[in-house]
Amino acid sequence: MLSKKLLFYSTVGCYVVLCFITGIARERSTISEDVIRGAFNATEEGFISVVRRSFSLRPIIAAMGSCCLVGIIWNGKLLIANVGDSRAVLGSVGESNKVVAEQLTVDHNASSEDVRNELRSLHSDDASIVVKREGVWRIKGIIQVSRSIGDAYLKRREFSLNIPRFRLTEPLRRPVLTAEPSLYTRVLHNNDKFLIFASDGLWEHLSNQEAAAIVHNNPRAGIAKRLLKAALMEAARKVRITYDDVKQCKAGERRQIHDDISVVVMFLDHVTGQNGSVPELSFKGFNNNIVASNFDLEGIT
Ligand SMILES: *[C@@H]1O[C@H](CO)[C@@H](O)[C@H](O)[C@H]1NC(C)=O
Ligand SMILES: *[C@@H]1O[C@H](CO)[C@@H](O)[C@H](O)[C@H]1NC(C)=O
Ligand SMILES: *[C@@H]1O[C@H](CO)[C@@H](O)[C@H](O)[C@H]1NC(C)=O
Repeated sequence: MLSKKLLFYSTVGCYVVLCFITGIARERSTISEDVIRGAFNATEEGFISVVRRSFSLRPIIAAMGSCCLVGIIWNGKLLIANVGDSRAVLGSVGESNKVVAEQLTVDHNASSEDVRNELRSLHSDDASIVVKREGVWRIKGIIQVSRSIGDAYLKRREFSLNIPRFRLTEPLRRPVLTAEPSLYTRVLHNNDKFLIFASDGLWEHLSNQEAAAIVHNNPRAGIAKRLLKAALMEAARKVRITYDDVKQCKAGERRQIHDDISVVVMFLDHVTGQNGSVPELSFKGFNNNIVASNFDLEGIT
């Protein structure tokens, strides 16, 4: 019998979601979109209760939030759940050995017209739900990302903050951000060769196709680092400095040049064979918060 393995990959602070997925999957003996939704819900509820306990002593906790991108490969199927503006890109290689990049997730970022339209329809009574400020679309004029775990001050009125950066012009009528994940399921085919999961810091400087071409045309070892370096070189080029200059910058100055970048590359060739083995993985990040786990879940279908 083939072993049953569940693989999780996540970027940006969502280890808790993964733990909940494992727990709920064991309880219900299955992995499904409902299980994943339940895990995001439990994580958000848990975090909000931490905010509630700490708020009077440390109000700033209400402004803490995180994006979360999770991928699960299960019996030849790929399930992806996304909250925020990290992105999953699939690289497929056809007979001509050309690589094609396909973006699997939607960025939850107010710079996208679809996101703005969705927000306007959910908040038709609020003329300032999305506001363009200094050329940048922001929800309530404050934040670009439209879904997150946390950011309680934009979800519950009781956590409103009297800090200029986070102050709303009027009390919240209802949550303006949600922790509801966008979910995607697809059957993996033999042409599907690899997945790239990365935070928006990478995608600001590399297109999906550029990133996929780098992965396809280079050795597997250290490929995540190579992607990161390509993004940093592009960031440096934009401000007319060299890659070495970027590396010399202090953390504070560096933030002006590029955002934090986390990137995970997963090779799918053993997975599409559906023999349940663990795919090859390469990851790199400034945040030490990428999880690549391998859980054996007996009895789950
Ligand atoms: C979690 O699920 C419960 C029950 O369906 C629902 O009432 C609650 O609003 C959800 N919470 C979040 C944060 O989505
Ligand atoms: C939203 O998208 C814009 C444009 O692509 C990007 O510059 C920005 O970093 C994104 N926002 C966040 C919070 O990542
Ligand atoms: C299963 O995957 C492993 C890689 O870990 C590979 O060596 C093996 O040949 C595969 N078996 C089958 C039946 O595809």
